[in-house]
Amino acid sequence: MPRLSRLSRSVAGKVALVTGAASGMGRATAILFADEGAAVAAVDVNREPVESVAAEIRAAGGNARAWACDVADRAAVEQLIAEVVVQFGGIDILINNAGIAAAVPFEADNYDEVWARTLAVDLTAMTYTIRAALPHLRRSESPRIVNIASTEGLGATPGHSAYTAAKHGVVGLTRSLALEFGKEGITVNCICPGPIRTAMTEAIPEEAKERYARQRTALRRYGLPEEVAHLTLSLAMPAASFVTGVALPVDGGLTIRRA
Ligand code: NAI
Repeated sequence: MPRLSRLSRSVAGKVALVTGAASGMGRATAILFADEGAAVAAVDVNREPVESVAAEIRAAGGNARAWACDVADRAAVEQLIAEVVVQFGGIDILINNAGIAAAVPFEADNYDEVWARTLAVDLTAMTYTIRAALPHLRRSESPRIVNIASTEGLGATPGHSAYTAAKHGVVGLTRSLALEFGKEGITVNCICPGPIRTAMTEAIPEEAKERYARQRTALRRYGLPEEVAHLTLSLAMPAASFVTGVALPVDGGLTIRRA
């Protein structure tokens, strides 16, 4: 039977760099991409857990290597990208997932400090990885950038202004770069996860999680890291070649409600 299309849904043979790969959604993304046959550069500020993730992937027959890197350190990111290219021969897919979240009221004494670090890790770092990876993405047949924003990039919660500002920034950066790189066929998209069970939300008591999910989401539950990773995979596959500049909620229906 003739094939409808020559576009591939497979990332096999692609090189995918995933930041924040030691935990939560980054870990699930690294494992999923490796399962699908990609070579994975697993990057995290925490060396030991990211090395365990890469070892876990290799033990299952996948191809992964771990790098310890603070993505908010521009020089470290430049060195990281150079090393990944030496190791794997290029970069096809860049997944900017590393992030931190701190709830801090606007008038708190440590606000400036929290603001600076949150913006540095959750937003500015993406400009470092993207700029360093660009020459290599340009050599790829299907170059993809997927940034992990948040539903906080589409709406707001009181007491989270630094995080919310950073995540709105991720949506803006994504849209703007989608326009800037569109003529080169580089797609730039972001995912806006809703409440997901990861280390970031671990401290929220189970009862509070269930109440929030019941009241706020259509599916009435928290999501799992792999439920986000699968959408990241969808945006990263070669066949996703006409999708750019989107901010895709993966939120169990959280953003449907007006109030
Ligand atoms: P997580 O805490 O399980 O994983 C985040 C990873 O990023 C950790 O391994 C951490 O070591 C790493 N990281 C932090 N700062 C870094 C730095 N400077 N350099 C390199 N790595 C660094 O959290 P989770 O939930 O998996 O978060 C992943 C992304 O998803 C983040 O961008 C987060 O803001 C976003 N997100 C999370 C939601 C949730 O409900 N868990 C909801 C919406 C967005």
